Amino acid sequence: MDRSQSFGDAAEDYHRFRPGYPAEVADLVLGHAVGPVRRALEIGAGTGKATRLFAGRGVHVTAVEPDPGMRDVLEAETADLPVTVLPATFEDVDPGAVGPVDLCFAAAAFHWTDPATRWQRVAALLRPGGVVAVFGARTELADPGLAAAVAAVEAEIDAEVPGLEAAYAGPGDLPEFEAVDLTVVPRRSTYDADAYVRHLATVSAYLVLDPAERDEALNQVRALLPARLELVQDVRIQLARRA
Ligand SMILES: C[S@@+](CC[C@H](N)C(=O)[O-])C[C@H]1O[C@@H](n2cnc3c(N)ncnc32)[C@H](O)[C@@H]1O
Repeated sequence: MDRSQSFGDAAEDYHRFRPGYPAEVADLVLGHAVGPVRRALEIGAGTGKATRLFAGRGVHVTAVEPDPGMRDVLEAETADLPVTVLPATFEDVDPGAVGPVDLCFAAAAFHWTDPATRWQRVAALLRPGGVVAVFGARTELADPGLAAAVAAVEAEIDAEVPGLEAAYAGPGDLPEFEAVDLTVVPRRSTYDADAYVRHLATVSAYLVLDPAERDEALNQVRALLPARLELVQDVRIQLARRA
């Protein structure tokens, strides 16, 4: 199975065990725009964690999400908000039909889009002065000894997320963008061991394993864990403005 399409089978657990995004993220993103932000396009909305952040402030969000399992949760979670769910990949979006928008954002999703075309697609969607925000949080164990022990288990299953660093490298020297900025919002969380394992089970590297292999890897990790864990879940936010 393609990792970018692995999330839907675990949509309920994804929504329950993955963290949301702090209000500060919306403050930073909205503050980067020139002029008001009324309409947004979200890339890979998933179950709506970031959708709610902006739609809850009155921004109309067109939430692009290709996976039917994720969309079921997304629709339920945003039913009371100004959100239009678009069943599509970002590559399928017609900028002429959806844009221009004041904001284009992707939370934990930009790395799944086509690196050859994504910045040009964003440029085609945004009005001048509008903002693109690419953000997300890695979940890392705060205890370095524990992190190394878990990494040894994960070395067997190719846990690296492909293309993650490139997605946060920004638009480079494309003339369509200006005011490029990378900000990190620090965040620490405490999980109990079972919740951490349920969280891990929503990560694409685990989702693509066959069930027996997945259970074995998760049991190996579970055996290493104390009852309560400290996690580093800093949110990285790549911002740029349409020139
Ligand atoms: C890790 S989830 C992030 C979901 C949500 N944005 C969040 O922050 O919780 C990645 C999402 O991107 C979606 N996705 C994968 N490939 C995509 C593409 N080419 N265009 C748009 N969305 C895509 C997946 O279906 C999945 O829901």
